[in-house]
Amino acid sequence: MKPWNILVTGSNGLIGSEAVGYFDCLGHKVTGIDNNMRRIFFGPPGDTEWNLRRLKAATQRFTHEDIDLRDRAKVFDLFGGQHFDVVLHCAAQPSHDKAGEIPLLDFEVNAVATVYLLEAARQYSPEAIFILMSTNKVYGDAPNEKPLQELPTRYDYADPADYQGIDESCRIDRTLHSLFGASKTAADVYAQEYARYFGLRVGVFRAGCVTGPQHSGVELHGFLSHLVRVAMSGETYTIFGYKGKQVRDNILSYDAIRAVEEFVKNPRPAEVYNLGGGRENSISILEAIALVEEITGRKIVRNYCEQPRKGDHVCYISNLTKLKSHYPDWQIKRDLAGILEEMIAAQAGQKQAAR
Ligand SMILES: NC(=O)c1ccc[n+]([C@@H]2O[C@H](COP(=O)([O-])OP(=O)(O)OC[C@H]3O[C@@H](n4cnc5c(N)ncnc54)[C@H](O)[C@@H]3O)[C@@H](O)[C@H]2O)c1
Repeated sequence: MKPWNILVTGSNGLIGSEAVGYFDCLGHKVTGIDNNMRRIFFGPPGDTEWNLRRLKAATQRFTHEDIDLRDRAKVFDLFGGQHFDVVLHCAAQPSHDKAGEIPLLDFEVNAVATVYLLEAARQYSPEAIFILMSTNKVYGDAPNEKPLQELPTRYDYADPADYQGIDESCRIDRTLHSLFGASKTAADVYAQEYARYFGLRVGVFRAGCVTGPQHSGVELHGFLSHLVRVAMSGETYTIFGYKGKQVRDNILSYDAIRAVEEFVKNPRPAEVYNLGGGRENSISILEAIALVEEITGRKIVRNYCEQPRKGDHVCYISNLTKLKSHYPDWQIKRDLAGILEEMIAAQAGQKQAAR
């Protein structure tokens, strides 16, 4: 097979860097765009430079472009200079809560820059397979309308028909998204439109919680990564509302990129897929705290804030039925305990290296 020429945006971030390492290892040529804007959003703990240094040392065919995706001329210049077979768009302002403080910047990064990329692909690489990393926040708080039952350590769906979680038929309008969810919905709908209206080979993945050791986790984004960091540093973990019984499904970034690879090998333009850890990798905050305590042997100091995050899901599990039926070779390889063990070992290694 001829190696692909792949563009990955947000290449210093969690999912983008996983893609860079994965596709480079398979012999593909990867160009990454990242301007370390995560540091601007979240301050020093969000700095991704360490991950760029790691990638440069670990890869063979990776080149990095320090471009701000809001700079349309630079984005078009890059596309004008080469043909891409695959465009994987992972760059974003990724936080729900942060977006309310920076509405214009959030919209420019999440929505406007996505349209620049789609249009650049249409003009210069119209055959490219274009993948947008979207989010389950496109459903806003509509998933909270599902009847729930309260169990000792978590909320769960009360109706057995909902057991596998939220599928792609959930509505995306008439719901409270947070500005982040709204800007990502704009990008999601635009990406689908470029497939339907212009015929581009676009796929959209609506992710639940994606995680992994290369996440620069902060309180406002990266639930498990932040929890592990707090556990290892002895800081205090704050639970926001719902008694800590809110449920998330978690997927390792490696498993997420494997789904992207399956789509690239057999694209189904204009499709949207929910992508997460599914029922097996679902966990509440209380359960996650207990599991991290069990693995590390350390007690996590916690604080409870009565007010939940605005528009937050009470119980969100990605229904993976459509993804698995379209791509039967894809499956979740890493369970929750495995994910946490890997993240805890990586944190411990980083702390040792810093000494
Ligand atoms: N991690 C998750 O749990 C999760 C869940 C749902 C959806 N997603 C989506 O997946 C995508 C990737 O998420 P992630 O967790 O890897 O995020 P991340 O913050 O780790 O990575 C995003 C990267 O984009 C870069 N970036 C931001 N604005 C930029 C700009 N204007 N120009 C160039 N680079 C810019 C940042 O510096 C960062 O390195 C995002 O679209 C996010 O919304 C992630």
